[in-house]
Amino acid sequence: MTRDEARNKIIFALDVNGLAEIDRYAGMLAGKVGMFKVGKELFTACGPDAVRAVQRHGGQVFLDLKYHDIPNTVAKAMLEAARLGVQLANLHALGGAEMMETAASAVRKEFGNDRPRLLAVTILTSSTSETLRGVGIDHPVQDMVVRLAKLAQEAGMDGVVASPQEIGLIRAVCGPDFLIVTPGVRPAFASADDQKRIMTPAEAVAAGADYLVIGRPIAKADDPAAAADLITAEIVAGCL
Ligand code: C5P
Repeated sequence: MTRDEARNKIIFALDVNGLAEIDRYAGMLAGKVGMFKVGKELFTACGPDAVRAVQRHGGQVFLDLKYHDIPNTVAKAMLEAARLGVQLANLHALGGAEMMETAASAVRKEFGNDRPRLLAVTILTSSTSETLRGVGIDHPVQDMVVRLAKLAQEAGMDGVVASPQEIGLIRAVCGPDFLIVTPGVRPAFASADDQKRIMTPAEAVAAGADYLVIGRPIAKADDPAAAADLITAEIVAGCL
Protein backbone atom coordinates (compact mmCIF):
# COMPACT_ATOMS: atom_id res chain seq x y z
CA MET A 1 0.00 0.00 0.00
CA THR A 2 1.30 3.49 -0.87
CA ARG A 3 1.64 6.29 1.69
CA ASP A 4 -1.17 8.21 -0.04
CA GLU A 5 -3.51 5.21 0.16
CA ALA A 6 -2.67 4.69 3.82
CA ARG A 7 -3.08 8.38 4.72
CA ASN A 8 -6.44 8.54 2.93
CA LYS A 9 -7.75 5.85 5.26
CA ILE A 10 -7.32 8.05 8.33
CA ILE A 11 -10.36 10.03 9.48
CA PHE A 12 -9.44 12.45 12.25
CA ALA A 13 -12.25 12.81 14.85
CA LEU A 14 -12.65 16.57 15.34
CA ASP A 15 -13.94 16.19 18.90
CA VAL A 16 -13.80 19.93 19.64
CA ASN A 17 -16.52 22.53 20.11
CA GLY A 18 -15.34 25.73 18.47
CA LEU A 19 -14.31 27.15 15.12
CA ALA A 20 -10.89 28.25 16.38
CA GLU A 21 -10.02 24.66 17.26
CA ILE A 22 -11.19 23.46 13.87
CA ASP A 23 -8.84 25.96 12.25
CA ARG A 24 -6.00 24.82 14.50
CA TYR A 25 -6.40 21.11 13.76
CA ALA A 26 -7.43 21.41 10.12
CA GLY A 27 -4.48 23.73 9.52
CA MET A 28 -2.08 21.21 11.03
CA LEU A 29 -3.63 18.07 9.59
CA ALA A 30 -4.98 18.86 6.10
CA GLY A 31 -2.75 16.79 3.85
CA LYS A 32 -1.82 14.52 6.78
CA VAL A 33 -5.15 12.68 7.12
CA GLY A 34 -7.79 11.69 4.57
CA MET A 35 -10.84 13.21 6.24
CA PHE A 36 -12.20 15.05 9.28
CA LYS A 37 -15.15 13.73 11.28
CA VAL A 38 -17.65 16.38 12.40
CA GLY A 39 -19.91 14.88 15.05
CA LYS A 40 -22.91 15.90 17.14
CA GLU A 41 -21.03 18.03 19.67
CA LEU A 42 -19.24 20.16 17.10
CA PHE A 43 -22.24 20.39 14.77
CA THR A 44 -24.55 21.39 17.63
CA ALA A 45 -22.08 24.08 18.69
CA CYS A 46 -21.12 25.48 15.28
CA GLY A 47 -23.57 24.10 12.69
CA PRO A 48 -22.67 23.94 8.99
CA ASP A 49 -19.89 26.48 9.61
CA ALA A 50 -17.94 23.58 11.12
CA VAL A 51 -18.07 21.75 7.80
CA ARG A 52 -17.19 24.89 5.86
CA ALA A 53 -14.24 25.60 8.15
CA VAL A 54 -12.74 22.17 7.41
CA GLN A 55 -13.41 22.62 3.71
CA ARG A 56 -11.65 26.01 3.70
CA HIS A 57 -8.50 24.14 4.71
CA GLY A 58 -9.01 21.71 1.83
CA GLY A 59 -10.22 18.92 4.15
CA GLN A 60 -12.85 16.32 3.32
CA VAL A 61 -15.66 15.73 5.83
CA PHE A 62 -17.42 12.74 7.41
CA LEU A 63 -20.63 14.22 8.86
CA ASP A 64 -21.32 11.89 11.80
CA LEU A 65 -24.84 12.89 12.83
CA LYS A 66 -26.37 9.38 12.91
CA TYR A 67 -29.86 10.31 11.73
CA HIS A 68 -32.79 8.21 13.03
CA ASP A 69 -36.26 9.59 12.30
CA ILE A 70 -39.20 9.08 9.94
CA PRO A 71 -38.08 8.31 6.37
CA ASN A 72 -39.05 11.71 4.92
CA THR A 73 -37.18 13.64 7.61
CA VAL A 74 -34.02 11.55 7.32
CA ALA A 75 -34.06 11.80 3.51
CA LYS A 76 -34.33 15.58 3.70
CA ALA A 77 -31.56 15.82 6.29
CA MET A 78 -29.34 13.61 4.11
CA LEU A 79 -29.99 15.88 1.11
CA GLU A 80 -28.86 18.87 3.18
CA ALA A 81 -25.73 16.95 4.20
CA ALA A 82 -25.05 16.23 0.53
CA ARG A 83 -25.55 19.92 -0.32
CA LEU A 84 -22.86 20.78 2.22
CA GLY A 85 -20.49 18.76 0.05
CA VAL A 86 -19.46 16.19 2.66
CA GLN A 87 -17.86 12.91 1.53
CA LEU A 88 -19.43 10.60 4.17
CA ALA A 89 -22.66 10.87 6.19
CA ASN A 90 -24.53 8.36 8.32
CA LEU A 91 -27.79 7.19 9.88
CA HIS A 92 -28.93 4.46 12.28
CA ALA A 93 -29.78 1.16 10.58
CA LEU A 94 -32.28 0.55 13.40
CA GLY A 95 -34.44 3.20 11.69
CA GLY A 96 -35.32 0.40 9.27
CA ALA A 97 -35.22 -0.50 5.58
CA GLU A 98 -37.71 2.12 4.40
CA MET A 99 -35.86 4.92 6.18
CA MET A 100 -32.53 3.87 4.63
CA GLU A 101 -33.97 3.28 1.15
CA THR A 102 -35.74 6.64 1.09
CA ALA A 103 -32.57 8.48 2.11
CA ALA A 104 -30.31 6.55 -0.28
CA SER A 105 -32.58 7.00 -3.28
CA ALA A 106 -33.19 10.71 -2.59
CA VAL A 107 -29.43 11.37 -2.49
CA ARG A 108 -28.75 9.23 -5.58
CA LYS A 109 -31.54 10.95 -7.52
CA GLU A 110 -30.29 14.46 -6.81
CA PHE A 111 -26.53 13.88 -6.82
CA GLY A 112 -25.86 10.78 -8.95
CA ASN A 113 -22.32 9.59 -8.53
CA ASP A 114 -21.09 12.92 -7.22
CA ARG A 115 -22.62 12.27 -3.80
CA PRO A 116 -21.55 11.48 -0.29
CA ARG A 117 -21.19 7.79 0.52
CA LEU A 118 -23.89 6.86 3.01
CA LEU A 119 -23.04 4.76 6.05
CA ALA A 120 -25.24 2.99 8.56
CA VAL A 121 -24.48 2.56 12.24
CA THR A 122 -25.53 -0.98 13.19
CA ILE A 123 -25.39 -1.37 16.97
CA LEU A 124 -23.42 1.24 18.90
CA THR A 125 -20.32 -0.32 20.42
CA SER A 126 -21.39 1.12 23.78
CA SER A 127 -24.41 -1.25 23.69
CA THR A 128 -24.29 -4.76 25.14
CA SER A 129 -26.75 -7.65 24.85
CA GLU A 130 -28.22 -6.35 28.11
CA THR A 131 -28.77 -2.92 26.56
CA LEU A 132 -30.58 -4.60 23.67
CA ARG A 133 -32.71 -6.75 25.98
CA GLY A 134 -33.74 -3.57 27.80
CA VAL A 135 -35.28 -2.24 24.59
CA GLY A 136 -36.89 -5.57 23.69
CA ILE A 137 -34.27 -7.01 21.32
CA ASP A 138 -33.47 -10.57 22.42
CA HIS A 139 -30.57 -11.26 20.06
CA PRO A 140 -26.82 -11.22 20.65
CA VAL A 141 -25.08 -8.00 19.59
CA GLN A 142 -23.05 -9.73 16.87
CA ASP A 143 -26.15 -11.26 15.27
CA MET A 144 -27.77 -7.84 15.21
CA VAL A 145 -24.66 -6.22 13.71
CA VAL A 146 -24.60 -8.69 10.82
CA ARG A 147 -28.36 -8.52 10.31
CA LEU A 148 -28.37 -4.71 10.22
CA ALA A 149 -25.29 -4.51 7.96
CA LYS A 150 -27.07 -6.77 5.46
CA LEU A 151 -30.27 -4.78 5.72
CA ALA A 152 -28.32 -1.56 5.16
CA GLN A 153 -26.63 -2.98 2.07
CA GLU A 154 -29.94 -4.18 0.63
CA ALA A 155 -31.42 -0.73 1.28
CA GLY A 156 -28.72 0.94 -0.84
CA MET A 157 -26.31 2.13 1.83
CA ASP A 158 -22.63 2.23 0.84
CA GLY A 159 -21.26 0.83 4.08
CA VAL A 160 -21.31 0.74 7.87
CA VAL A 161 -19.53 2.08 10.93
CA ALA A 162 -18.31 -0.92 12.92
CA SER A 163 -16.01 -1.86 15.76
CA PRO A 164 -12.71 -3.51 14.78
CA GLN A 165 -14.01 -6.84 16.14
CA GLU A 166 -16.92 -6.80 13.70
CA ILE A 167 -14.96 -6.14 10.49
CA GLY A 168 -14.42 -9.80 9.54
CA LEU A 169 -18.05 -10.81 10.07
CA ILE A 170 -19.36 -7.88 8.04
CA ARG A 171 -16.84 -8.36 5.22
CA ALA A 172 -17.83 -12.02 4.97
CA VAL A 173 -21.52 -11.19 4.65
CA CYS A 174 -21.44 -7.93 2.67
CA GLY A 175 -18.52 -8.55 0.30
CA PRO A 176 -15.44 -6.56 -0.69
CA ASP A 177 -17.09 -3.37 -1.98
CA PHE A 178 -19.10 -2.47 1.13
CA LEU A 179 -17.34 0.30 3.06
CA ILE A 180 -16.33 -0.40 6.65
CA VAL A 181 -15.38 2.58 8.83
CA THR A 182 -13.82 1.66 12.16
CA PRO A 183 -13.27 3.61 15.38
CA GLY A 184 -11.58 2.01 18.40
CA VAL A 185 -8.21 2.07 16.68
CA ARG A 186 -5.03 2.67 18.65
CA PRO A 187 -1.61 2.99 17.05
CA ALA A 188 1.28 1.17 18.72
CA PHE A 189 2.61 4.43 20.23
CA ALA A 190 -0.65 5.62 21.85
CA SER A 191 -2.59 4.86 25.03
CA ALA A 192 -5.96 3.12 24.85
CA ASP A 193 -7.82 5.98 26.64
CA ASP A 194 -11.35 4.70 27.31
CA GLN A 195 -11.46 2.44 24.25
CA LYS A 196 -11.78 -1.21 25.26
CA ARG A 197 -11.60 -3.63 22.36
CA ILE A 198 -8.95 -1.98 20.24
CA MET A 199 -6.87 -2.88 17.20
CA THR A 200 -3.82 -1.16 15.77
CA PRO A 201 -4.30 0.70 12.47
CA ALA A 202 -2.43 -1.99 10.55
CA GLU A 203 -4.50 -4.78 12.14
CA ALA A 204 -7.77 -2.99 11.35
CA VAL A 205 -6.75 -2.42 7.72
CA ALA A 206 -5.56 -6.03 7.40
CA ALA A 207 -8.93 -7.15 8.83
CA GLY A 208 -10.66 -5.24 6.04
CA ALA A 209 -11.36 -1.70 7.28
CA ASP A 210 -11.57 0.96 4.56
CA TYR A 211 -11.33 3.93 6.94
CA LEU A 212 -10.10 4.34 10.52
CA VAL A 213 -11.61 6.99 12.82
CA ILE A 214 -8.84 8.21 15.13
CA GLY A 215 -9.11 11.09 17.58
CA ARG A 216 -7.07 11.36 20.76
CA PRO A 217 -3.91 9.56 19.57
CA ILE A 218 -3.54 12.44 17.10
CA ALA A 219 -5.21 15.30 19.02
CA LYS A 220 -3.34 14.68 22.28
CA ALA A 221 0.07 14.12 20.70
CA ASP A 222 2.71 16.82 21.22
CA ASP A 223 2.93 17.06 17.44
CA PRO A 224 -0.40 15.97 15.86
CA ALA A 225 0.94 16.13 12.30
CA ALA A 226 3.87 13.88 13.23
CA ALA A 227 1.46 11.47 14.98
CA ALA A 228 -0.66 11.27 11.82
CA ASP A 229 2.50 10.56 9.78
CA LEU A 230 3.45 7.78 12.22
CA ILE A 231 0.02 6.19 11.84
CA THR A 232 0.35 6.35 8.05
CA ALA A 233 3.76 4.66 8.36
CA GLU A 234 2.29 1.95 10.64
CA ILE A 235 -0.40 1.19 8.08
CA VAL A 236 2.09 1.04 5.21
CA ALA A 237 4.47 -1.18 7.20
CA GLY A 238 1.67 -3.49 8.29
CA CYS A 239 0.40 -3.94 4.74
CA LEU A 240 3.66 -4.72 2.92
O1 C5P B 1 -10.28 9.64 20.52
P1 C5P B 1 -10.74 8.38 19.87
O2 C5P B 1 -9.78 7.86 18.82
O3 C5P B 1 -11.17 7.32 20.85
O4 C5P B 1 -12.04 8.86 19.06
C1 C5P B 1 -12.85 7.96 18.38
C2 C5P B 1 -13.99 8.68 17.74
O5 C5P B 1 -14.86 7.71 17.20
C3 C5P B 1 -14.83 9.53 18.70
O6 C5P B 1 -15.35 10.63 17.95
C4 C5P B 1 -15.93 8.59 19.11
O7 C5P B 1 -17.11 9.25 19.46
C5 C5P B 1 -16.13 7.80 17.82
N1 C5P B 1 -16.72 6.49 18.00
C6 C5P B 1 -16.18 5.51 18.83
N2 C5P B 1 -16.79 4.30 18.93
C7 C5P B 1 -17.90 4.06 18.26
C8 C5P B 1 -18.46 5.01 17.43
C9 C5P B 1 -17.84 6.24 17.33
O8 C5P B 1 -15.14 5.71 19.42
N3 C5P B 1 -18.44 2.88 18.34
